Amino acid sequence: MKVNGKPFRTIWPTADNAAVEIIDQTKLPHMFHTARLESMRDAERAIKDMQVRGAPLIGVTAAYGVALSMKHHASDAAMKATCDMLLAARPTAVNLRWGIERMRALLAQMPEGERAGAAWQEAARIADEDVAICSSIGEHGSELIKAIYQKRNDSVNILTHCNAGWLATVDWGTALAPVYKAFNAGIPLHVWVDETRPRNQGASLTAWELGQHGVPHTVIVDNTGGHLMQHGRVDMAIVGTDRVTSKGDVCNKIGTYLKALAAHDNGVPFYVALPTPTIDWTMQDGVKDIPIEERAQEEVTHIAGLCDDGQVRSVLLTPKDTRAANFGFDVTPARLVTGLITERGVVKADTEAMKLLK
Ligand code: MRU
Repeated sequence: MKVNGKPFRTIWPTADNAAVEIIDQTKLPHMFHTARLESMRDAERAIKDMQVRGAPLIGVTAAYGVALSMKHHASDAAMKATCDMLLAARPTAVNLRWGIERMRALLAQMPEGERAGAAWQEAARIADEDVAICSSIGEHGSELIKAIYQKRNDSVNILTHCNAGWLATVDWGTALAPVYKAFNAGIPLHVWVDETRPRNQGASLTAWELGQHGVPHTVIVDNTGGHLMQHGRVDMAIVGTDRVTSKGDVCNKIGTYLKALAAHDNGVPFYVALPTPTIDWTMQDGVKDIPIEERAQEEVTHIAGLCDDGQVRSVLLTPKDTRAANFGFDVTPARLVTGLITERGVVKADTEAMKLLK
């Protein structure tokens, strides 16, 4: 996608293949900065500190983390240590494990001397595949938007939560890929953007990238969706996901479950867009089995923003010693999901239908 008219991906190798560069998402929307990752430690830190975030992008960054590590230490022991460290960076998005295991499976069968070059190529392949997958999710999902437009004959209102746009992937996005494809095809649409406390990925990232592409959108506070649905102002919801179980339970940014409940109560179609590597075939019951990341209290007690003097500052919102709980994700049971939009088509969120994706 484009930033100020210039095409960008969220992650790319430097010209000399010595490092990778990323868009530093902690600086958006007020500053557009890129950062250079030169080592596995840099990649680990970028994932932990959420300079890169979003399940698919976490997976690709981890793959490049393995590749950066192989440049210096390509032994079996070094590979194990690298993979273990990267695996621990964030617990919920299964794409992290998927990316690392794909690298490990390839490299384990190679002589040490060949690992560095092969790892670099494989990480680049994973990144390119992510772009193709997301583009295909966009094609399938845009048909759903088109069908609603043809029925309504008026602008389609789509609600989304968190950021599952191109910033959460290498390009195109998951939940927003259908929006971009439909918008590019001339279908009139408008996106309700949940701000997504505590880190505000909606208000800062989704609003920013939709704005860059010229897509009409409005930021709403997280509790507004139900009200809008009751008044017929949401035609469909599309969200991304960090892990889907084999029976279609969907783990996504905290607050997604409440939107799905409201959508169910109001007869609003609730779609989840995902690349198939986001399916964890080893798990069935998402509520019981998916590890939910708990992050620092400060993400809840504080908020950062642009001050009138042009500086970005963080301020305290709560009484000084108030404790806060910060669960990063929740699980939406499969029964509340209208359909899964994948690169291979739209399927029902149930065990039988999902077997086609295996
Ligand atoms: O904590 P984040 O910002 O990494 O969480 C991201 C989300 O929950 C997204 O909705 C999800 O990863 C899907 S991204 C295509």
